[in-house]
Amino acid sequence: MAGNSKARQRKAKESVANGKDAGISSSDARNDAVSGSSAGAPFWVVLVLLFIIVILLSYVSYPNIASLLRHTDSVQSKREITSESEAHKHPMKSASDAVKKDVSLSNEIEEMEEEAQEIQPEEQETIKLEMTPETKSKTKEVKLIPESKKKDKNVKKKPEKSEKKKSSKKQDASNEIEDFKASYLKEMSPKKIFVDGRRLPPVELLPQKPNNSSVKVFLYDEFLSKEECEGLMKAHDRHVEEMTKKDPIVCFDSINTLRRHLKANKKKVNVTPLDFTPGTTCVNKTFSSQLKNWLKQNWSYSTAFYPGESRFSKVFEYRVKEATALTPVNGGKFQITSYPEGIGYKTHTDCREDDEKRDRMATILVYLQDVEEGGETKFPELGIWAKPRKGRALVWNNMNKDGNCEPLSIHNAAKVVKGHKYILQRWYYYKNFYSLGKRPPEPHLPEREPGTPRVSCDEYDHGSCRWYDEWNYDHILEYQRQKMTLQ
Ligand SMILES: *[C@@H]1O[C@H](CO)[C@@H](O)[C@H](O)[C@H]1NC(C)=O
Ligand SMILES: *[C@@H]1O[C@H](CO)[C@@H](O)[C@H](O)[C@H]1NC(C)=O
Ligand SMILES: *[C@@H]1O[C@H](CO)[C@@H](O)[C@H](O)[C@H]1NC(C)=O
Ligand SMILES: *[C@@H]1O[C@H](CO)[C@@H](O)[C@H](O)[C@H]1NC(C)=O
Repeated sequence: MAGNSKARQRKAKESVANGKDAGISSSDARNDAVSGSSAGAPFWVVLVLLFIIVILLSYVSYPNIASLLRHTDSVQSKREITSESEAHKHPMKSASDAVKKDVSLSNEIEEMEEEAQEIQPEEQETIKLEMTPETKSKTKEVKLIPESKKKDKNVKKKPEKSEKKKSSKKQDASNEIEDFKASYLKEMSPKKIFVDGRRLPPVELLPQKPNNSSVKVFLYDEFLSKEECEGLMKAHDRHVEEMTKKDPIVCFDSINTLRRHLKANKKKVNVTPLDFTPGTTCVNKTFSSQLKNWLKQNWSYSTAFYPGESRFSKVFEYRVKEATALTPVNGGKFQITSYPEGIGYKTHTDCREDDEKRDRMATILVYLQDVEEGGETKFPELGIWAKPRKGRALVWNNMNKDGNCEPLSIHNAAKVVKGHKYILQRWYYYKNFYSLGKRPPEPHLPEREPGTPRVSCDEYDHGSCRWYDEWNYDHILEYQRQKMTLQ
């Protein structure tokens, strides 16, 4: 059986290497592949009640998709039982091993959650305090947010700032950041795993012309079950449906991009930097609502959930670790994206070609359903592409062993011609950092009602617009970078 699978893998590699199909065709792969003081009881009770109210309020005003993942999670509880019996069937993975790993993983997650609970409100407060556009310190502090590119020195600077505030509680938080030990991910090593009785061998997609690149692309069919895929899509759709009741605020990477969009949609409107909300590259609520109609909501939809927010997140990261040796602590958020017909995503690398090691070393992308036509993931420099198939995972490295971004890892999402594409993605970072994988604090600019989504449009020629259920700091950082041209 082992010999057979090797032969089959070899066959898959050959069929790709032969270049008869660009990438791997679906059939090929299928066949082959909260603390109190000592005060009196009433005071204590009031504190606890207040705490509960605050928690409930924050839940109500910042809903997220995690609460909708219940369906997928219940699928998961069934799954765990079966995968334990699976472990008995395959002696290589003994049940005790599986339990041990599970315990250490859940400990890890619990620790992460405790840290997040202790630290996040502090971080949020600090950032808000220092977010007035006039202060120079702003840029540095903003950079502590996981989604943007950060430098080590920013983390080290943070304790100094907190010390100045002379708050002992703040200092504790800072020490935790200081004591943080980064974990490095230099490699992924895909291997065969068994999930729920499914045998999942990795299939390496070889470049058509081997052009000396360190990028390796692997494919796993049925990495997620049909039920898992459907649970994720359902949660995503429900969350999008709920959040699209509010019009999004629309942001652009530049005034030119806005002009190009207006022109393309035949709107004779003159825009000036004064049309942007001060301190941001976003336009106001009224203008955003108008743009929503003008741009015909022609964009993709992305929703995010974070490690520990759902049972599924644990199961998924454990499965990824087993399969690829990519460690959970190096993983960021989980993102589900849906692409309607006509929408794709530009050619890009998942890392930046600067000296930043806190960057995305590897990417795992799972297609949640088949797409009738289009929607392929293509690596133009490698001559590799993959077709969306329900449950199929694509995993590749974006950086080499030295932690340098590999330009040949550029890839794109072809436009969906017919059908509706859904993917789950998670990025694994070469060097992890303290706030990685923690739901980041929301920027206070632009002023908006809680639960307002965001649309980001960039590089008209190559890019497109993308709807998000959460905010990052790009629209503020971009404004700072571009101040000269916006004024
Ligand atoms: C690519 O090839 C050149 C020479 O052929 C070699 O010096 C270089 O190390 C190679 N790079 C990689 C990433 O293999
Ligand atoms: C919103 O922006 C538009 C375009 O810049 C402007 O005409 C309008 O007065 C603004 N509305 C509000 C309420 O600020
Ligand atoms: C690598 O190979 C692809 C596919 O043949 C080709 O398009 C690309 O130009 C090559 N890149 C380099 C740097 O040689
Ligand atoms: C939607 O946007 C894409 C590019 O972002 C464009 O090519 C396409 O024509 C647009 N479709 C409609 C219906 O406006």
